[in-house]
Amino acid sequence: MKDARLCILGAGNMGRALIGGLLRAGARPGEISVGESVAAVREALARDLGVRATADNRAAISGAAVVVLAVKPPQAAEVLQPLAVALRAAPALLVSVAAGVRVAALAGWCPGVGVVRAMPNRPALVGAGVTGLYAPPGVVPAQRLLAERVMRSVGEIVWVPGEDALDTVTALSGSGPAYFFLLAELLAEAGEQLGLEGAAARRLAVHTLYGAGLLTQAGDADLKRLRAEVTSQGGTTEAALQVLESADLRATVTRALAAAAARSRELGNS
Ligand SMILES: NC(=O)c1ccc[n+]([C@@H]2O[C@H](COP(=O)([O-])OP(=O)(O)OC[C@H]3O[C@@H](n4cnc5c(N)ncnc54)[C@H](OP(=O)(O)O)[C@@H]3O)[C@@H](O)[C@H]2O)c1
Repeated sequence: MKDARLCILGAGNMGRALIGGLLRAGARPGEISVGESVAAVREALARDLGVRATADNRAAISGAAVVVLAVKPPQAAEVLQPLAVALRAAPALLVSVAAGVRVAALAGWCPGVGVVRAMPNRPALVGAGVTGLYAPPGVVPAQRLLAERVMRSVGEIVWVPGEDALDTVTALSGSGPAYFFLLAELLAEAGEQLGLEGAAARRLAVHTLYGAGLLTQAGDADLKRLRAEVTSQGGTTEAALQVLESADLRATVTRALAAAAARSRELGNS
């Protein structure tokens, strides 16, 4: 990312994914500074990536146009409050990836600071994530662009119009990888029950998941058409899909997402 100094606070799983993504996207190591409490992590960043990391978060945010908050949600307040004055003076845009931490809370800890909330998912760790982004009124287009550029470095982005929608994003794409892992696990188990050797069934399931994912990235990614293309009338796929439909899979998936979104709201309010 060009023309904007960036700071990442917290170089755990997501912080490191972002640092790696930003470097792959063209940021120079000197443009990124990191605030990180673990000495071994700081040393690894400097040694492996040439990125400056410090335990002093005030020093880390100095001169940064964008500050990404990537610590665990319960640590957000203690990390941000001491930085409030410096962030407002800079002025820096705060992009928070802390799950469930509301704009109102972020604005309370850092009054007068532009805030964007981002909800990435775990495939960001391999550069194939998708992030839901929400900007409250007052965030200007140039700031939205900065947040977009940061999160695009680890995958796709989708803006949502209201903060509540981030709970649905959490339910869909945040938790989503687990749903596909479960389905692949169930496919492997069923394959084994139907006579395949265990390792072979797992391999078939995992590569089907991977290949199907790749196909969704080709062309217009119309899911109904992709499904129709592997479903001949009267064929094997149709036989399986009829069983899934008659077991009320659609309503079950809707209920599952509603449960995840409700839990996300509860956690955000606790
Ligand atoms: N991982 C995901 O897939 C994912 C997906 C969506 C959103 N997120 C969000 O991303 C955030 C980070 O998650 P994560 O999985 O990357 O967590 P993590 O691996 O625990 O990383 C957080 C890092 O921040 C460090 N830290 C703690 N206090 C600090 C401080 N005062 N100053 C600077 N650094 C500090 C932690 O050190 P210690 O170990 O010493 O605490 C740790 O290295 C969370 O808020 C989470 O909700 C993660």
